[in-house]
Amino acid sequence: MRHWIAVFLLAMVLASSFVSSAEDTKTVAVIGTGDMGNSLGPKLASIGYRVVYGSRDPSAERVQKLLKITAPTARAATQKEAAQSADIVLLAVPWPAMEQVARNLGNLDGKIVIDVSFPFEQGPDGYPQSTVETSSAEMIQAWNPGAKVVKWSLPTAHYIDEPQKLGYRPSNLIAADDRESKETVARIAHAIGQDPFDAGPLRMSRAVEAQVLLFMVPLYQRRVAHWESVTIRSSYWSCFWGDDWSSPVVDADNLAKFPEHGQPLEECSEYPSDR
Ligand SMILES: NC(=O)c1ccc[n+]([C@@H]2O[C@H](COP(=O)([O-])OP(=O)(O)OC[C@H]3O[C@@H](n4cnc5c(N)ncnc54)[C@H](OP(=O)(O)O)[C@@H]3O)[C@@H](O)[C@H]2O)c1
Repeated sequence: MRHWIAVFLLAMVLASSFVSSAEDTKTVAVIGTGDMGNSLGPKLASIGYRVVYGSRDPSAERVQKLLKITAPTARAATQKEAAQSADIVLLAVPWPAMEQVARNLGNLDGKIVIDVSFPFEQGPDGYPQSTVETSSAEMIQAWNPGAKVVKWSLPTAHYIDEPQKLGYRPSNLIAADDRESKETVARIAHAIGQDPFDAGPLRMSRAVEAQVLLFMVPLYQRRVAHWESVTIRSSYWSCFWGDDWSSPVVDADNLAKFPEHGQPLEECSEYPSDR
């Protein structure tokens, strides 16, 4: 009898550990199977996320090909089904389609919703211009007030596929009002070879998007020699100018902790000695 009780208890323990490890695996819905979906889906799967692609045509041959290169557990569904089955929803559709898509994914309350889009068009002078007054991320937040929207500024899909090609990790600016969601996206960014920086609350998406607008200028000029926006670590400004500079400070509890950097400095480790 004791033997059977032990076997039963062992079976219960194994079953519960299996369920909890499956639950620990978060599902990401990648909405849109274009360049960004093709780059980010396989990367997300490679770092342990369960990926579900949201497509207007989940059975399309190119979507089935994408599933094959992603992971055996990856699947495709309609955009709404994918979003509803996920913990994290990554919106990888062109900006002109965004409102229609983002308003029709069902209830996104409590989910992390990642915006990688740029709402740009070509202006009459040939240069790029924004098509929105605020930012794409703030508009997505307004359409889904209960979602935890995160702006994730990524480089072109080529540098997502092969981040080492630049010779350094591509800089990613990340803005969000929810600290934990921002940290989650920063950890994802770092795990797939990018270099995440904390750009502050979601309203800073306007500045993030403006920076990308600037770096697209050589593209519109048809220049072969392009440039990339690179953010590098440096010293906190008050290390040079004293703490008066930093007043009023943001609430320290709201500062996200990013992998390797992006954490608030406890103290200035290096004061410039020649001043
Ligand atoms: N490409 C880049 O290097 C890059 C870099 C940084 C940021 N971004 C941003 O990432 C987003 C996606 O860019 P992308 O280059 O991947 O775009 P894309 O290749 O033109 O299209 C993305 C996918 O969105 C879906 N889609 C297209 N039109 C739609 C519509 N009217 N309604 C619903 N779904 C539609 C399609 O997937 P299904 O056919 O499966 O539905 C399509 O393959 C954009 O907002 C862009 O600004 C792109």
